[in-house]
Amino acid sequence: MPLFDVYPLYNVTPVSGKGIHVYDDNGTEYLDLYGGHAVISIGHAHPNYVKAVTNQVETLGFYSNAIQNPLQKQLADKIETLSGCKGYELFLCNSGAEANENALKLASFKTGKKRVLAFSNGFHGRTSAAVAATDNKNIIAPINAQQAVTILPLNDIEGVKAELEKGDVCAVIVEFIQGIGGLDQGTAEFFEAIDKLCKANNTMFIADEIQCGYGRSGKFFAFQHYDVTPDIISLAKGMGNGFPIGGILIHPDIKSKYGMLGTTFGGNHLACAAGLAVLNTIEEEKLIANVNVMSEYLMSIAKTIPQIKKIKGRGLMLGLEFDFEVGDLRKELIYNHHMFTGGAANKKLLRILPPLNIEKEHINQFFDALKKALKEFEK
Ligand SMILES: Cc1ncc(COP(=O)(O)O)c(C=O)c1O
Repeated sequence: MPLFDVYPLYNVTPVSGKGIHVYDDNGTEYLDLYGGHAVISIGHAHPNYVKAVTNQVETLGFYSNAIQNPLQKQLADKIETLSGCKGYELFLCNSGAEANENALKLASFKTGKKRVLAFSNGFHGRTSAAVAATDNKNIIAPINAQQAVTILPLNDIEGVKAELEKGDVCAVIVEFIQGIGGLDQGTAEFFEAIDKLCKANNTMFIADEIQCGYGRSGKFFAFQHYDVTPDIISLAKGMGNGFPIGGILIHPDIKSKYGMLGTTFGGNHLACAAGLAVLNTIEEEKLIANVNVMSEYLMSIAKTIPQIKKIKGRGLMLGLEFDFEVGDLRKELIYNHHMFTGGAANKKLLRILPPLNIEKEHINQFFDALKKALKEFEK
């Protein structure tokens, strides 16, 4: 049976991984500066992670959300400790889109309203309300388009004010660092104005931390670079280091009731074991401090390369902007230098999203290869 053909694929077949590297079916080593879309947070096949997941699957991989599962509470407590987000409550699901669906649904339950405000170039997932809040008409089917969504330019404070004052907006959803859109960020003034306007207009402020969260920005959450208190924080990607897990942190002003949200697989034993191993490793190996050191190092070298016209993003969620489209450069890096990098909606941007335990030697290897690849291009 053929696979439904929706992904343009590189001709590489990784079969194993270790740390910052993956290995293909011929044994060729690749440096992974993309982490499979910002998913690999603590590195491939990290021994703590392998041990925790193996032990758990040998013991109890799954039971439904009808029984006590102390691992969920352990995970919630660990997120609270590492993020410093006190008093929030955790709901677990399986993916980023699902986290945002639950976030938007909860905002609508809480406020009794249904219009969503989102921003240009934002991406929030491919399902129902999440895709409707995504600024990409190509992935919005007619069934999704029935959702009431208004998209405004980033930093349009007056626009946000005017829309919220109409009284029908349940949620403002924002990525504090845009991912696939191209690493753009709103200003502090903008984010802080949204926070105040949401509070003044009974609108829920949703921080989509699916890509920029879990330490990638240099703080546990990217919104923590600003003076804001989101009502709902959505998580996925780095949370499971490849195990499918997502979640939302919910402000205690939003009260739960039985049946309000639910899932079969979300928060299962195996997912929680993976999630706990990730957080324990982030803590033990001081990975957020490493993000800041490596980010500074990477940017300092990027600044010396004349072909790089702009550096976007923060922490280890970076975009290197050139004055040409980077599709062929990425191919050159993969096929001739064995390095994975990412692209974005902005075709001139090379996206760098490595595991958070990357070291200077890997960054040096990347820039050596990039310089060689750029020379090839000039020929
Ligand atoms: C910011 C953001 N939100 C939501 C999603 C959707 O996550 P998933 O692909 O796990 O559904 C993504 C995925 O790329 C993302 O980057």
